[in-house]
Amino acid sequence: MNPTAILLATFLLSIAGLFAFIWSLRKGLFDADAGGARTIFAQGEIGHVEDPAADAGQAHTLQRDARVLGPTTAAELAAREAADRSSAQPAFALFTYAIVWLIVASLAGLVSSLKLHWPELLDQYGWLTFGRLRTLHLNAVAYGWAPQALLGLAIWMLPRLLRTPLIGARFVLVGALIWNAGLVAGLIAIAFGLSAGLEWLEIPWQVGGLFAFGGMLIGLPMVFTLRRKRVHHLYVSVWYIGAALFWFPVLYLVAKVPGVHFGIEMATMNWWFGHNVLGLFYTPLSIAAVYYFLPKIIGRPVQSYNLSLLGFWTLAFFYGQVGAHHLIGGPVPEWLITLSIVQSVMMVIPVIAFSLNMHLTLRGNFDALRHSYSLRFIFFGAVMYTLASLQGTFEALRSVNAVTHFTHFTVAHAHLGMYGFVSMVAFGGIYFALPRVLDLRWPRPHLIALHFWLVVAGFLFYLVTLSVGGVLQGLALLDPARPFMDSVAVTLPWLQGRSLGGALMTAGHLVFAWHFFLAVRATAWRTRVQSLPLNVTG
Ligand code: HEM
Ligand code: HEM
Repeated sequence: MNPTAILLATFLLSIAGLFAFIWSLRKGLFDADAGGARTIFAQGEIGHVEDPAADAGQAHTLQRDARVLGPTTAAELAAREAADRSSAQPAFALFTYAIVWLIVASLAGLVSSLKLHWPELLDQYGWLTFGRLRTLHLNAVAYGWAPQALLGLAIWMLPRLLRTPLIGARFVLVGALIWNAGLVAGLIAIAFGLSAGLEWLEIPWQVGGLFAFGGMLIGLPMVFTLRRKRVHHLYVSVWYIGAALFWFPVLYLVAKVPGVHFGIEMATMNWWFGHNVLGLFYTPLSIAAVYYFLPKIIGRPVQSYNLSLLGFWTLAFFYGQVGAHHLIGGPVPEWLITLSIVQSVMMVIPVIAFSLNMHLTLRGNFDALRHSYSLRFIFFGAVMYTLASLQGTFEALRSVNAVTHFTHFTVAHAHLGMYGFVSMVAFGGIYFALPRVLDLRWPRPHLIALHFWLVVAGFLFYLVTLSVGGVLQGLALLDPARPFMDSVAVTLPWLQGRSLGGALMTAGHLVFAWHFFLAVRATAWRTRVQSLPLNVTG
């Protein structure tokens, strides 16, 4: 398929988005009143904090610091409990799959990392060679951990956001099964060396189609539930979730259709998919979670509802055309690259809109970070979103990309986005949601703190070492006076540093998975640690 046709199609999609934007203006969704921001609170609930992961002492301090405006309505809270019950099973299934993949992916990532400075490690097994193991790691995070954790949160949030029980939970259960069957088959294929050879699309199309089909099924309950919604305003998280659920199957199908893309067009399509799956799937789902959990934990609506909608529409307009910034310097038309760089710079608008909004919402309430671990994870993730995106904008400039492109710096950026942002938000969301899903408090709250500090320390170490190593590598590669091997040798200590950071992250994931198991066991054996009130103050 010709890249001009693809770009024309994305351009037409942007125009359609523009019309939807105009429609939303006409519908008054940008009104100064912005009642939509209050949609996530029951009547009188503003000022009441909610953090099911907080222990009694933390919840009390959180509430003491918040401003209570009035009593909550028992009927509305009971309706929310019914909404929570309706999504518990599918959300639980998705969280469980996600956590299993998180462990598989972390171990594969750690061994891949070790191999880069200890090449003899496990070199006698074909499926454990770097090329396959790295791909197993990437696919296990890209289709195992991240999407299933985020989809679990989306499915759990939807009935709350629409104030009505979830309709069609069975579609999620079946969709998730199909999705995971596709993933297991795909990873086995990769382990045997059968790969489509395109990054992020390595899983052969014969099984990859299962993601698109499973993803479509997982999205269906949103359509059914929307028809029964009991809210006047669609809260901004619903926009993000709806868009992500729609975009994923379209992206995957277009990129995977066999026999259509060849040569350089295939590379263009590869990165059209690669960046869109990041920007139009993981990112909106994570932003939806931040927009829900952050205000909910501190009991205060987002500061500017208008800014949140501006962020949504500018993301939808600009992201579709950034993919070619992965091909800077490649044999693709210059105008295509320039367009992607312009759109990469335009991305500053949604990023600043989001960051400013979160900052203003938390202003005066930063103390809450000391008492809520869910909030810490989510806040950390939100800050990393800003950093990853601003860094990405610079990385897309030709002058910077010339240094960073073929280096570990790109991998550091990838983890800043997919780990610092997406995974941290997912951890925070699961800490919030699981107690409602299982109707119990987390059995060992100190394990949440341990998880947080292990992954924050590990991730920061990972990020800093690999970024420094990446820049040194890039400078060595660009220097014609230095032999190529210099650019390899210079990275060694930094790669060892990355393995240390990765080991701490993996330890944090094991703590998380163990705690999840303890919570499930407590529910299965009905040894509830403590039942949860509908509202921490209630
Ligand atoms: C405005 C926002 C962003 C821009 C402009 C941007 C830009 C870039 C650029 C220029 C590259 C390097 C291409 C190369 O030299 O190979 C890159 C790679 C990457 N970015 Fe971003 N980025 C942004 C946000 C994000 C976010 C939020 C995430 C995570 C959700 C993310 C995840 C990644 C990943 C995973 C890669 C590596 C892809 C690969 O090579 O496999 N980026 N980005
Ligand atoms: C949930 C956690 C994680 C996520 C979401 C994640 C995400 C990613 C992504 C998107 C890539 C592709 C980067 C690119 O091509 O530019 C990647 C590669 C990689 N990751 Fe992770 N990762 C995670 C955890 C880990 C851990 C714990 C380690 C352990 C050290 C690790 C080590 C690696 C290595 C070695 C690569 C290959 C880098 C290369 O090709 O040079 N990752 N990861």
